Amino acid sequence: MDLTLWQYQFRIIMLGDSTVGKSSLLKRYTEDLFLGSINETVGVDFYVHFLEVEPGVRVKLQFWDTAGQERFRSVTRSYYRNSVGGLLVFDITNRASFDHIKEWHSEVCEHVQPHRVLFILVGQKIDRDENKERAVSREEAEKLAGQMGVPYVEASAKTGHNVREAFELLTRRVYQGILSGEVELQEGWDGVKCAAPQALRLQRSSLSQTSTAPKNDRKCCG
Ligand code: GTP
Ligand code: MG
Repeated sequence: MDLTLWQYQFRIIMLGDSTVGKSSLLKRYTEDLFLGSINETVGVDFYVHFLEVEPGVRVKLQFWDTAGQERFRSVTRSYYRNSVGGLLVFDITNRASFDHIKEWHSEVCEHVQPHRVLFILVGQKIDRDENKERAVSREEAEKLAGQMGVPYVEASAKTGHNVREAFELLTRRVYQGILSGEVELQEGWDGVKCAAPQALRLQRSSLSQTSTAPKNDRKCCG
C-alpha cells in the first residue's frame, strides 16, 4: 500500500520546558535515533509519521516540535490553535520542568478555545532513574495527570522505553475522540483533516484487494 495515502491527519504539538527532550522523543519515534548532543529547537520544527490505528485506517501524524525557550513563545503560540493533540513533557530529574506543566497546560487551553486539545503527560529521561537522579515521583506525576484528566507515561528517548507507546496512546485517544464525537471536525480548523475523496477511493480500491475496508470514514468524509 502507498504510504502517502491516509484517511486522517492529526496535528500534534510538543510542549514543555527547554531540554526536557521533546525533539529527542520525536527523533526516536520517527527515525529510531537518539543524538546525545544538545541541539535546541529554534522556533518550531516539523516531523511526520504514519500510524494505522485499526486495520485500514491510516493516520498521518504531523508533529509541531516547539522550542521550550521563552524567547520563542510568541512563535510557538501560533501553533496551538490548529493542534488536536499535545504531549506535555517534563524531565523526571528536573523539578522546575514538572512545576511548569500546569502553566503549559493552561496556556494552551486558553489559546485554543473554542477548540480542545487532548493531552498526555510524559515524564521523560526515565533511564536516569537508575542513577537515583529522579526529582519527581511517579505518584506526584500521576496525581497531576489525574487533576488535568490526562494519561501519564514515563519514557526515555535515550533507551526508547515507552516512546512508541506514548505517541500511540495519544493518537488512539484522538481517534477515539473523533469516533465518539468528543473531537469535532470543523471548517477552518486544521487539527484534524480528512483525506481527499479521490485518495480515499484509491485507497479503498487497494484495500478491497486485501479485503479490509476502512471501518470509519463516516464523520470524515460524509
Ligand atoms: P528545546 O528544543 O530547547 O525546547 O529542548 P528539547 O525539549 O527539544 O530537548 P532535546 O530533545 O533537545 O534534549 C535536550 C538534552 O537532553 C539533549 O542533550 C539530549 O541528548 C538529552 N536527552 C533527551 N532525551 C533524553 C533521555 O531520554 N535520557 C537522557 N539521559 N537524556 C536525554
Ligand atoms: Mg527541541
